[in-house]
Amino acid sequence: MRCWRRMAAAGALLAALSAAVALAEHRRPDTSSSSSSSRRPLRFASGGVFKVALFADLHYGENAWTDWGPRQDAGSDRVMAAVLDAEKPDFVVYLGDLVTANNLGIPNASLYWDRAISPTRGRGIPWATVFGNHDDMAFEWPPEWFSPAGVPPLRCPPPSMSVSDCSFRGTPRLELMTSEIIRNGLSYSSNGPKDMWPAVSNYVLQVLSHRQDDPALLMYFLDSGGGSYPEVISSAQVQWFQSQSQFLNPNGRIPEIIFWHIPSTAYAKVAPKAKSEIRKPCVGSINKEEVAPQEAEWGMMDALVKRDSVKAIFVGHNHGLDWCCPHEKLWLCFARHTGYGGYGNWPRGARVIQISEQPFSIQSWIRMENGTTHSDISLG
Ligand SMILES: *[C@@H]1O[C@H](CO)[C@@H](O)[C@H](O)[C@H]1NC(C)=O
Ligand SMILES: *[C@@H]1O[C@H](CO)[C@@H](O)[C@H](O)[C@H]1NC(C)=O
Repeated sequence: MRCWRRMAAAGALLAALSAAVALAEHRRPDTSSSSSSSRRPLRFASGGVFKVALFADLHYGENAWTDWGPRQDAGSDRVMAAVLDAEKPDFVVYLGDLVTANNLGIPNASLYWDRAISPTRGRGIPWATVFGNHDDMAFEWPPEWFSPAGVPPLRCPPPSMSVSDCSFRGTPRLELMTSEIIRNGLSYSSNGPKDMWPAVSNYVLQVLSHRQDDPALLMYFLDSGGGSYPEVISSAQVQWFQSQSQFLNPNGRIPEIIFWHIPSTAYAKVAPKAKSEIRKPCVGSINKEEVAPQEAEWGMMDALVKRDSVKAIFVGHNHGLDWCCPHEKLWLCFARHTGYGGYGNWPRGARVIQISEQPFSIQSWIRMENGTTHSDISLG
C-alpha cells in the first residue's frame, strides 16, 4: 500500500512538471521551461567575458564494494576542486556520464549524481547537465559475485520503496534530472519538452550581454542517447533545434555553441588518424583511440553546419581524445576526461572555454589537475 502511494506521488510530481514544461513551451522558448524560469539570467561579466568549465566523464559510483571505487571518486572530487579554484569559471557544463549506473551497488543513482555536482554547488557556481550513455543504465551483476567468495554486501532498496527486489534497474533520466532541478537553485538544467522523450536533456540557455538585457550567446544542450535507448540524436530533436534557433535567433546575429555527450559521425571524419600526432589545424594533446560515434546521423549536423552562427560543438565520451578539429565553418571539440572513474589512465583535466562578447571570440584550453594548462586554441 505504502509503496503504491509513493509511486502515485512521484507520478503526480512528474505530471505537474510536464504540465509546467508544456505551458512554458506554449508561450515562450524552451529557455524558460521548468527549471530556468525562476533562475537569475546568465550574463557576461563586466569585462564582457563568460568562462565555462567542462566536466566530462566523471563516472562516480563505480564498484563501491572495492577499495579502488571510493578512491577514484575522491580523485574526481580533487580534479574538479583544482580546476574550479584555478579558473573560477562563471558556469560549469557537466557533459554526461556523471555516474556509472551499471556499476552502482545502490538503487538510487541520484545520490552519486549529487556528489558529482557538489564541488560546483559548494562554490556557488551555476551549472547545467546533459546525459551520457552510462547515467541511466541498469546494474550489471559482476560474474565473479557468483564465485565461492559470494556476493558482497549491497544496499538494496528499503522495503518501503516501490522496488521490492534487488535488481537495480537504473534511475531513469527523468528522475535524475527532476531530483537535480528541484533541489538546486543553481541548476540551469531542464527536462526538455516531452515530445523528445526518452531524450531528456534538451534545452537552450541565453547569456545576456554585460551592457544590456539582450542575449549575446546561446548555449544549446542535447541528449545524445545511450543507456536505456540507442545512441542517437533523433529527428524530433533536429526539428526542435531548428524551431528554437529560428525563434531565438532568426537572423543569426547571436553566436551559438552546442553541448552533448557522444560525438557525431562527423567527428570520425575530421579526426586525425588514431594514435598519430595531432597536427594543425587540429589542436590537442591526446589522440589515443578511434572516435566512438553515435549510431546514426539523422540531420543534426546538417542543421548545424547551415547556421553561420553555430561556432563549436563540445562532446565527451572518448576518454582518450581531447582535440578540437575544424569541420566546415565550425569546430568539433572533445572535452578532457575529468573523472578518475571510467576507462583510461591519461592525466585528468577539464576543457575551459572563454567567450568574449565584443568583438566576439572563443578561446579554449585544457586545465590539468596539477595546475598546468595546454592546447590553447581560438575557435572562430
Ligand atoms: C533518490 O535520492 C534523491 C536524492 O537524495 C531523492 O531526492 C529521491 O527521492 C530518491 N529517489 C528514490 C526513488 O528514493
Ligand atoms: C602536470 O601534468 C602533466 C601531465 O598532464 C605533466 O606533463 C607535467 O609535467 C605536470 N607538471 C607539473 C608541474 O607537475
